[in-house]
Amino acid sequence: MRRAKISVIGAGNVGATCAHWAAAKELGDVVLVDIPEKEGVAKGKALDLMCAGPMERFDANVVGTSDYADTAGSDVVIVTAGIPRKPGMSRDDLIATNVKIVKSVSEQVAKHSPNAVMILVSNPLDAMVYTAWKASGFPTSRIVGQAGALDVARFRTFLAMEIGCSVEDVQALLLGGHGDTMVPLPRYSSVHGIPVSEFLSQAQIDACVERAKMGGGEVVKLMGTSAYYAPASGSVLMAEAIIKDKKRILPCAAYCNGEFGINGFFVGVPCMLGAGGVERVIDIELTDSEQKLMDNSVEAVKELVEIVNNTFPELAGKNAPVGAA
Ligand code: APR
Repeated sequence: MRRAKISVIGAGNVGATCAHWAAAKELGDVVLVDIPEKEGVAKGKALDLMCAGPMERFDANVVGTSDYADTAGSDVVIVTAGIPRKPGMSRDDLIATNVKIVKSVSEQVAKHSPNAVMILVSNPLDAMVYTAWKASGFPTSRIVGQAGALDVARFRTFLAMEIGCSVEDVQALLLGGHGDTMVPLPRYSSVHGIPVSEFLSQAQIDACVERAKMGGGEVVKLMGTSAYYAPASGSVLMAEAIIKDKKRILPCAAYCNGEFGINGFFVGVPCMLGAGGVERVIDIELTDSEQKLMDNSVEAVKELVEIVNNTFPELAGKNAPVGAA
């Protein structure tokens, strides 16, 4: 059987951790890419990771490079290239630098891996997904952003901590952009099917919602840079669903074509992920107040997209194909 090929762009904290988990789960061979000045770092981390194989018992080739030719024919490309947050910065503060990086990366990915599914991780995520779509010319089904998997995992973690139960049994749902306007949905959150309201007061649930929304900032404040274990875990979870054609239902930043009343934007929504990338967006009925929060979140996404369009007017007019490949 042919092994899947996963390229991870950016060999920093998030990228290297993605490579780590992808290799440890034997999802396929991994190519870790960074800029020429950091090729040694990419190669060194790749070699170091491979040498863990005998002990962790995985077979995977992991190579480091700065040459996109080495990524040719990738099935999945995880894009983590770009600068992370420092204390006091919001994700949106990264846009000027990261939009340029993600544009150039996406053009290289399209050239060398025209059939790949791209998973965007760089922030501000909602702007980066749009940039990658326009710059790659990929169909919307093969462009997806990692945000919801992480945000939901944070929400589940904080609920489990508050309840004092296993995180495994906590299910939750969260929609919207990957920023302060994200929309956790306690109504769809349960402990093995039992509503969380059976375990926690409204005030406790609200506190978990707020902590999930600010979870990324909490980590930045503590360690001086962005989180990477959980973001990488979310990315590899999505890569696994695609590579194994699992048809998993995960919240992802996906292109909405009327779902949730959103037209023409990538926003965090429940998706079916399989070999084709985003195979379905699952449109659910929201209450009036939830829809209001969603609309507010979409407005924040639109503002980011406008900044991208102002930075690269040529991308705004580009008629990227819409829909499934
Ligand atoms: N091509 C490839 N790699 C690049 C490029 C590029 N054009 N530009 C920058 N990089 C690399 C950097 O050299 C660096 O090694 O991206 C890497 C980013 O790593 P870190 O600085 O450790 O940042 P990290 O914590 O991994 O976060 C990366 O993911 O979650 C988001 O907000 C986070 O936007 C940030 C991104």
